[in-house]
Amino acid sequence: MLTSEQFDRTRKLALRLAGIELFDRHRELLAARSRRLRLPHAAGIEGLLSAAEEGDPLASRQLIGLVTTNFTGFFRHPGHFDAAADHAIAAAQRRGQARLWSAAAATGEEPYSMAMALIEGFRRDDPPASVLATDIDADALAAAARGEYGERALKALGAGRRERFFGEPVAERRCIRPAVRRLVEFRALNLTEVIWPVEGPFDVIFCRNVVMYLEACRRYAVFERLASLLASDGLLILDPTEHLGKAGHLFTPGADGLYSRRRLSCPPRSATRECSVLRQ
Ligand SMILES: C[S@@+](CC[C@H](N)C(=O)[O-])C[C@H]1O[C@@H](n2cnc3c(N)ncnc32)[C@H](O)[C@@H]1O
Repeated sequence: MLTSEQFDRTRKLALRLAGIELFDRHRELLAARSRRLRLPHAAGIEGLLSAAEEGDPLASRQLIGLVTTNFTGFFRHPGHFDAAADHAIAAAQRRGQARLWSAAAATGEEPYSMAMALIEGFRRDDPPASVLATDIDADALAAAARGEYGERALKALGAGRRERFFGEPVAERRCIRPAVRRLVEFRALNLTEVIWPVEGPFDVIFCRNVVMYLEACRRYAVFERLASLLASDGLLILDPTEHLGKAGHLFTPGADGLYSRRRLSCPPRSATRECSVLRQ
């Protein structure tokens, strides 16, 4: 069990390192996760917190792994992948190449689903399109880059896609085929950092189930930057239950979490100044 003092320190670190806001209801979840983590520090959670507070990179990475939720799946909201592929085909017809981005790629199921949808949509193994996959969690990204999945994750795919896009099972795990893997590039990116190692424009951006974990005052800045990296005719995709909040004026809503970029007649305002962390 985390003591109140340890939970408070975890909370501060989550906000500082990832912009993630933790509430009292997360306490038990964090305690359970910290028990599952193989902590490198002999002093367990206490050692991890102290090392992360001192800026130790390994401890910071583990702390991020502790406070992030990597729940994901193949073809979550299947209509999103059809819409993305259709949009990519139209973009490639206009510009020769389509660029897609999964901005919270977790363990890779989302960007690989995008790549599979591109192969299916373009009806070729080498579609004129690419997928950038980013996440703050280095361990999740490493798992994504390995591209190996167990039967439970693969269940969400029909037998046709399992056979077409994955190799034969080895020890009940299947590896993503090179044709899918080579469409996806993985890169670490913290959405609440000042520097984003990406260049636009993107034709489609998936930013599903991540902004809701961020401190409320940081969400506007994330959407504002996503808007600036989206092609003028680009598509932003959120989970259908998510909202743009104060950034609603930057996009025009479509159905089921699809948004297109709205042309602005005046410069957008920035809400980041209200953030507690930025005041520290
Ligand atoms: C619930 S998963 C969403 C996965 C996928 N987008 C989906 O909807 O299935 C949330 C992901 O957001 C990532 N994340 C959390 N805070 C982040 C931040 N500040 N910058 C980038 N990624 C972040 C987590 O590491 C995690 O992998």
